[in-house]
Amino acid sequence: MKEQLNNIRLEAEKCLNEVKSSADLESLRLRFLGKKGELTAVLRGMGGLTSDERPIIGQLANDVRSFIEGKLEEGAKILQNKEQELRLKTEYIDVTIPGKRRFIGKKHPLTIVSDEIKDVFVSLGYEIAEGPEVELDYYNFEALNIPAGHPARDAQDTFYINDEILLRSQTSSVQIRVMENKKPPIKLISPGRVYRSDSVDATHSPVFHQVEGLVVDKGITMGDLVGTLQLFARRLFGEDTKIRLRPHHFQFTEPSAEVDVSCWTCGGKGCRVCKNEGWIEILGAGMVHPKVLENCGIDSKVYSGFAFGLGVERTAMGRFNIDDMRLLFENDMRFLRQF
Ligand code: DAH
Repeated sequence: MKEQLNNIRLEAEKCLNEVKSSADLESLRLRFLGKKGELTAVLRGMGGLTSDERPIIGQLANDVRSFIEGKLEEGAKILQNKEQELRLKTEYIDVTIPGKRRFIGKKHPLTIVSDEIKDVFVSLGYEIAEGPEVELDYYNFEALNIPAGHPARDAQDTFYINDEILLRSQTSSVQIRVMENKKPPIKLISPGRVYRSDSVDATHSPVFHQVEGLVVDKGITMGDLVGTLQLFARRLFGEDTKIRLRPHHFQFTEPSAEVDVSCWTCGGKGCRVCKNEGWIEILGAGMVHPKVLENCGIDSKVYSGFAFGLGVERTAMGRFNIDDMRLLFENDMRFLRQF
């Protein structure tokens, strides 16, 4: 029996030195110390010993048990340390690595310019109106005094959903939508996207942006239009900016004008930016045609109004000295980060 116990001790020591996981450890505990374990089996045989032998074997059996227990504990500690070491290695955070800088978004140049335009008119008490981009022929052309077959449609050829529905070619459609629903005084601007079936090049895009303006009330005159546009041009392009009106024709205004501002680069002397003209065209404008007012149920003998429409791309290109409209739509970050 003494030999059996010593063998158990040797075997247990050997096994426990090679332990690799806590599952190994548990199965060894059961093998040696469990109810059906090897040591327990030996102890069960103690009944057959003499009373001289019993305390000696008993003492030895206790020694072997506490030896194995000690070894198990030691093994558990070693495993625990190994696990901790592994975790420290894999979960290690190097706090000295420089942080990743996040690029904070910027406004697109078209947004910058259209926000500036909105700011000017909102500060003058204008409301901002919206209209649909998928529009009825009626609002885009017909009600604006451009009947089917009229040559004025040629310059604004657009994309048709069917005979009556199209992608609006101008924000002027919003004038009609508002005047149908609201009686004067009306004072609005309407920024938005418009479409034309133009091929893409440095100055054309089938999708671009306009800002429409409309004022209707009793006694509105051309003087009000000129004063408003003068103030707008100064706010947007600088205090020394002058404006110039050239007679023009639009179907929905009478009289009509194209409006130039003195060049923001040379101040009017002539330079590369204004192609030596001294002036740069920025918008179309005029007094709302009586027919257009009547189309919306507004009495043209009582009320009058002015309207204007400006291209946002063209304004942004001027402001930021951009020579190719495509840059505004390609969204190359190297370009956009400059603004
Ligand atoms: N809708 C015109 C265009 O796209 C621009 C325009 C001209 C708008 C005169 C107006 C206006 O409101 O009065 O070419």
